[in-house]
Amino acid sequence: MDSIDLSPNQFKKLAERVLEFATRHLEELELRPIAPRVKASTLEELFHTPLPESGVGEEALEQLEAVARHSRAQNGRFFGYVLGSGDAVSATTELLCAVLNQNVTAWRSAPAAVTIERTVISWLAQAIGCSGFSGTLTSGGSSANLMALAMAREAKTPANQSGLTDGRRIAVYASSQVHMSIRKAVALLGIGHENIRTIRVDDFFHMIPQDLAHAMEFDMARGIPGVVVANAGTVNTGAIDPLQEIAAIASKHDAWLHIDGAYGALAAIAAPDKLSGLELADSISLDPHKWLYQPLDCGCLLYRDLGAARRAFSDSGEYVRPLSEDSREGYAIFEESMELSRRFRALKLWFSIRYHGFAKLRESIQKDLRHAQRLTRQIQAHPALELQAPVELSAVCFRYVGGRSPADPELNELNAAILGRILERGNLYLSNATLRSKFCLRACIVNHRTTDADIDRVVPEVLLAAKEVC
Ligand SMILES: Cc1ncc(COP(=O)(O)O)c(C=O)c1O
Repeated sequence: MDSIDLSPNQFKKLAERVLEFATRHLEELELRPIAPRVKASTLEELFHTPLPESGVGEEALEQLEAVARHSRAQNGRFFGYVLGSGDAVSATTELLCAVLNQNVTAWRSAPAAVTIERTVISWLAQAIGCSGFSGTLTSGGSSANLMALAMAREAKTPANQSGLTDGRRIAVYASSQVHMSIRKAVALLGIGHENIRTIRVDDFFHMIPQDLAHAMEFDMARGIPGVVVANAGTVNTGAIDPLQEIAAIASKHDAWLHIDGAYGALAAIAAPDKLSGLELADSISLDPHKWLYQPLDCGCLLYRDLGAARRAFSDSGEYVRPLSEDSREGYAIFEESMELSRRFRALKLWFSIRYHGFAKLRESIQKDLRHAQRLTRQIQAHPALELQAPVELSAVCFRYVGGRSPADPELNELNAAILGRILERGNLYLSNATLRSKFCLRACIVNHRTTDADIDRVVPEVLLAAKEVC
């Protein structure tokens, strides 16, 4: 029976062909429609083929061109979602990552990879003003939030052993703008949505600290411990909650403070004043696959107390027992993480940071912040457009009003149609947010490829789409 293995030469030939596709993709990025004009039925015909019993060898390469052609092009005019633009420097290491195929469970299993992950964790902590925090890389912000709430629950209402028995509860305080992954984590951990206390926001979409204080006093009087989730960049508008005030209230009530900084915490590299208070958290989620431009996936959870992570996650089987007396060589990530088998996520991040240097990454984040302000000014200057929220980071929410009353209920449908038309035209990728029942267009700028000229295309594209759908 033939082995499925390749000789190094065969590997090189195959990899070079794949590299050609990747390079062509980058060459054509600016020219291609940003959202492919393709129907689901066409893609099913192309890719949803019967399970191949016999292989086609290098002919399999032929479909890669179609994969790239029918993928969204992440050029400088991609402003959808909070999603980094995929640093090509990092991408070059992804093949090596797979070839090395390190299982980053413990030093014993992946000595270089574990050392590099611990290095980038300390770099990230230092970069956002949280030196001394520990942490691990995760698949993204959602898993970091889940792990953070698991740690918080175990710290404040230990339940790993017996479950949440005898009617014990824990309250989770978060603003109405909190990301859906927090609600998911609350459900998955058995805390229950009924124990989420939704705290109101002000006109800036910031959590109102006085409301938090009242809600916590009410629960504390009943002996219910708490976890406060503050936002460092809400998904909709990039609002940063008043972290210092919130930290003081959480501390007064001995509650766990988690900061969801999946979107905004890394902006502390470029604008530390906007994010002062991060260092007061018990745990912080941050996503290098958002605002450090890393290719998916690369999230991170940082925490102050390593013991809290161990109390939440340590439960090892005998087969993974460390064999070394040296604490570094006996180090096991799975004692501090919900994952066991893990890919070498740190490789691309470590390589990218070393290649560019932090100064370049800082400049790129500063450029995104400037671009958001440039777009904001253009929207404010146009009578047919209306800004819908202050722009603290790089999410710009606005509507086409076109001379109608801002209260006109048809504006929701009209703006949804405008968004659809923009995506069909394929020059620009915007997403949407609903703020106070208003459907808004949303440009989220976390894109190292964006130029001033790209920003200057947004308003004309919106106006053109509006003309076409009106
Ligand atoms: C504020 C916030 N938290 C959490 C997440 C979830 O992160 P991920 O998509 O990496 O799971 C997002 C995603 O956009 C986010 O903006």
